[in-house]
Amino acid sequence: MRILSGIQPSGALHIGNYFGMMLPAIEMQEQGEAYYFIANYHSMTSLFDPIIRRQNTLDVALDFLACGLDPKKAVFFRQSDVSEVCELAWMLTTIAPMGLLERCHSFKDKVANGISPNHGLFAYPVLMAADILIYDSDVVPVGRDQKQHVEVTRDLATKFNQAYGETFVVPAERIRDSVAVVPGTDGQKMSKSYGNTIEIFGEEKATKKRIMGLVMDSRSPSEPKPDAEKNVAIQLLKLVAPSEVSLGFEARLREGGLGYGDLKKALFEHYWNFFTPARNRRAELAANLDYVESVLRDGAERARIVARTVLTRARKASGLE
Ligand code: ADP
Ligand code: TRP
Repeated sequence: MRILSGIQPSGALHIGNYFGMMLPAIEMQEQGEAYYFIANYHSMTSLFDPIIRRQNTLDVALDFLACGLDPKKAVFFRQSDVSEVCELAWMLTTIAPMGLLERCHSFKDKVANGISPNHGLFAYPVLMAADILIYDSDVVPVGRDQKQHVEVTRDLATKFNQAYGETFVVPAERIRDSVAVVPGTDGQKMSKSYGNTIEIFGEEKATKKRIMGLVMDSRSPSEPKPDAEKNVAIQLLKLVAPSEVSLGFEARLREGGLGYGDLKKALFEHYWNFFTPARNRRAELAANLDYVESVLRDGAERARIVARTVLTRARKASGLE
């Protein structure tokens, strides 16, 4: 089984990224041939500072390796180190119906939020399809917000196969229901674009402040809370604390008598301890950037071998060769 996923270097990674995409991807590296990449071409649709792009790309590499991506098991690379993917994106764009792309939620949401879209933002699902198809991927671990993009990929693979003969593997998304949408500090989906994130490797004081600032209601501590399972701090605690701990807090909140301040303090402590081993590994990696660069370069070489094979197949099928 070939597993593939990507993440954009568009800012500091948060625990929604971790539980929604990185952890499932890291666990899946044991189950097949995993290909994971840093989607720096994608970041060009919305980030226009070369220095920040380079820095963010390095940060994502450090974050992913620190969290447990094992370069001996997974092929880890920068998207732009395998530029063959842009040629495949062109081929796919010629069979991508305008209407299909116009219906993509992420594009519509961004336009609704007042972003003036460039063509890259509109065509982004086609590049994502190329990312997936060029590695003959079977499964794509992502958070729920990316489901539609994998559906577009399937549509394009099927259309191409019908037009030019069997060329591409038709992939499927893999979404973990338990963490399909991790809530942010305001209870909405945690997202860089909503400013409601808890970073994986945030600075201690600032992160504590964010957790203590989680939005709660105004019910008094003594009041029973029959909806305790909906509380954002409880939902996050379930991700970072052993289940007996989170269920204990949930029961106390339900009965009444647990103050939100104490709950948030417990959340901060469990969050901090949960990521401490990764935080230490990250510091070691940051002191050894030559190693990180060599991992990415080696990953790109291995990825390019597969990409060239699949691209040649598509070039032959479509009569370019
Ligand atoms: P953001 O919304 O912060 O910009 P991205 O769109 O870059 O995050 O998402 C990167 C990966 O992390 C995707 O696979 C996405 O599905 C996943 N992801 C992002 N936010 C969450 C969340 N709150 N819950 C679960 N998964 C998420
Ligand atoms: N679109 C994804 C995101 O914003 C990143 C991405 C790009 C990706 N290409 C991909 C994810 C291919 C999975 C497979 O999170």
